[in-house]
Amino acid sequence: MCGIVGYLGNKEAYPILIKGLHRLEYRGYDSAGVALVNKDNELKVFKAKGKVIDLENFTKDKDISGTIGIAHTRWATHGEPNDINAHPHYSQSSSLALIHNGIIENYAIIKEDLINRGFNFQSDTDTEVLVQLIEYIKNTNKVCLEKAVQLALTQAIGAYAIAVIEKNNPDMIVAARKSSPLVIGIGDDEFFLASDATPIIEYTNRVIYLDDEEIAVIQRGKEVKIKTISDVEKTHEIKELEMSLNELEKGGYPHFMLKEIHEQPRRIEEAMRGRINVEGNTVSLAGIIDNKEKFLKAKRILIVACGTSWHAGLIGEYLIEELARIPVEVEYASEFRYRNPIINKGDIVIAISQSGETADTLAAIELARRNGAFVYGICNVVGSSIPRNTDSGSYTHVGPEIGVASTKAFTAQVTVLSLIAMTIAKLKGTIDPIHFECLVKELSLIPEKMKKTLELNQRIYEFARIFTYAKNFIYLGRGYNYPVALEGALKLKEISYIHAEGYPAAEMKHGPIALIDAEMPVVVIAPNKGMYEKTISNIQEVKARKGKVIAIVTEGDETVKKMSDYSIEIPETEECFVPLLAAIPLQLLAYHIAVVKGCNVDQPRNLAKSVTVE
Ligand code: G6P
Repeated sequence: MCGIVGYLGNKEAYPILIKGLHRLEYRGYDSAGVALVNKDNELKVFKAKGKVIDLENFTKDKDISGTIGIAHTRWATHGEPNDINAHPHYSQSSSLALIHNGIIENYAIIKEDLINRGFNFQSDTDTEVLVQLIEYIKNTNKVCLEKAVQLALTQAIGAYAIAVIEKNNPDMIVAARKSSPLVIGIGDDEFFLASDATPIIEYTNRVIYLDDEEIAVIQRGKEVKIKTISDVEKTHEIKELEMSLNELEKGGYPHFMLKEIHEQPRRIEEAMRGRINVEGNTVSLAGIIDNKEKFLKAKRILIVACGTSWHAGLIGEYLIEELARIPVEVEYASEFRYRNPIINKGDIVIAISQSGETADTLAAIELARRNGAFVYGICNVVGSSIPRNTDSGSYTHVGPEIGVASTKAFTAQVTVLSLIAMTIAKLKGTIDPIHFECLVKELSLIPEKMKKTLELNQRIYEFARIFTYAKNFIYLGRGYNYPVALEGALKLKEISYIHAEGYPAAEMKHGPIALIDAEMPVVVIAPNKGMYEKTISNIQEVKARKGKVIAIVTEGDETVKKMSDYSIEIPETEECFVPLLAAIPLQLLAYHIAVVKGCNVDQPRNLAKSVTVE
């Protein structure tokens, strides 16, 4: 969703801002803009609907000089994507320019009041209201920009990360956040500002993460000043980023998504490093061990997440219930936060999120903590809001995920959930020691088996070419593979825009079977574990209606292979780890279908990587 970049230093700001916007493209957006103060103290705003490149083309013959500036990629919420609604927004007198990520929920009331006071609005956005309000307060109260921002924000209800600059003031950016992320990069005599660290890492690895309801005043030649909206001064520790620039490049792959699919063996190994020891036959996650009593006593675990992370959560439910024998409920964070759920003291809430910034998941965490639950986070982005708002947790450690369709983050989340289930099971004694030893060995072999699975790439590309005709797809799986079916269907619709439904295979009879005809591709995850025979019956039901079966089978399985139209063989593994391998051919299938269809795989239409508004 909306991306923010800012620069204040000795270099020309424009190239740094544009590069920063390119780094943030992965978040999803529909227009872009930039504001600069030049050496004559003029404040110029340039914006364009479309991609960052459209903005670059638009500014080709313009004065883009200046060593201070702010820039933005907009993902439309209020007002259609067009040049006018793009950020930055000017204030009435054009003396201020502001960029915003979030939603000002009470914008209509403020707007009406300002209109009555003679303000004119150019756009349909909630954002413009903020910049007008800041100007109004600044002029009527005769206060500096910093104070005006502070007073304006006390009136704003909703979520925001903002940055404001002003004409005649080439030395200052005022920024603030509430429920939307903002990071300040500290260089040598220069400062950076961004929604996440990706635009900053090229220049410095020293950052400050702003907390909710904080305002930062960034000034040339001075230290960053931070205070709360209620005027309490704050000091922040400068953190060191762990990210490397290479991780933000495609590394020879045509798309980030393909790179990230191929990274999985290495990344999963990293996710397990120090947490699993095959020789010692141990699995241990520090976050669980440190809170051992809580997990031993837990009567219930609630998992909250969105999108792909929710699918990982469903697999977590199967894993934790089977191995650790604790009842688990999995819920969409967006439902949980608004339905007055029952949360008992002693309940554990596990929040799963790749970005660590998903607004609904953050709100669900807040609700759970208010009600006395212990909240454990499973996140990828180090230093993001969710790990900073949970009681404990585990990082997935897969490095930046740039492709909008989540791949390596999903398998890493399932890996961490496996480690959680195994750690608790061992502590509680709910797992047979021989079974435990077998799972430890098998989990450690998953990276090698993933490598083998990736060798299927070419074969899957060939299938993909056959199925680009399809308007619909059905994905079926049972047990641990039911969430994999959901995830396979989600991958396909996200990037190829083909309608796809994931179902537990046995539920097919209760509806989706009506859709099956000779045109319908049905992907069935049918390993030789779990309800193998039952899944075979479901395949027969599809075949009887002339559906085209693409089966994901265990290496050497001739039975399912013979009855399917197409088959993809994955290495044999324990039933609970099949999702870690079965997800890969489904990721590749979606990827190749989307590429053959000419879709923008890394930045699919309408989607955002980091969903920072509800
Ligand atoms: C968006 C992304 C998905 C992701 C979901 C949840 O929809 O496009 O890939 O699964 O948000 O995001 P999170 O960062 O919380 O895992």
